[in-house]
Amino acid sequence: MRIIVAKDYEGMCVNGANLIAAQILLKPDCVLGLATGSTPCGIYDRLAGKYQAGELDFSAVRSVNLDEYVGLSPENDQSYRYFMQKNLFSRVNIRPENTHVPDGLAADIEAECQRYEALIAGYGYPDLQLLGIGLNGHIGFNEPEDQFPVATHRVALTESTIAANSRFFENPAEVPRAAITMGIGSIMRAKRVLLAISGENKKEIARAALCGPVTPQVPASILQLHPDVTVILDAAAAALL
Ligand code: GLP
Repeated sequence: MRIIVAKDYEGMCVNGANLIAAQILLKPDCVLGLATGSTPCGIYDRLAGKYQAGELDFSAVRSVNLDEYVGLSPENDQSYRYFMQKNLFSRVNIRPENTHVPDGLAADIEAECQRYEALIAGYGYPDLQLLGIGLNGHIGFNEPEDQFPVATHRVALTESTIAANSRFFENPAEVPRAAITMGIGSIMRAKRVLLAISGENKKEIARAALCGPVTPQVPASILQLHPDVTVILDAAAAALL
């Protein structure tokens, strides 16, 4: 596990964008596993800047997103499909048909989970998987549990995740209670992982995930067992390492 501590959020994003850009230069038709949340926004800004400066070409890149809320349409501004369109896809030349996010409106959620897992497997799993981390250690929407969930599945969100995500919704009652997420097994099959952690409020979970025991109660801790992980933190998130 490589750990890079940047001075601040800006520095963390510069590092993260450089690593993703290097992946695209190395393999122009790479499969990127992408994440949502506030942490990657600055990374996506810089990737869009590199594209606009003519430094990066997304025309052959394929992308698979980690997760999506159950019940939100792509037009809903809180859906993860909407987030990705706004923050990255509409700003670079990635082909719409090469971008994938689970369908939160699928009539049969179980079938959608199976379809999505088969899609990722068909791609041979991501060349590079970008991750953020939840305050309780979740990655994607894999919440603390008694065992690591393997494949893409439907998950009931914990109260702490619902509370954390309610800041994005006008009315807390609108925060979805369930999501579709890639499993821990799907994430661990990525060839490389890039975990971004920012902010003072993440310092305890950063220490637990990176330095504590590997346990499904801290889902991100399993990354300690992955052979190729780079963690980028700002100084505030790294304070307890
Ligand atoms: C959501 C997403 C995660 C993300 C987490 C942290 O729960 N499903 O993929 O890592 O939020 O978000 P933030 O970066 O805003 O703290």
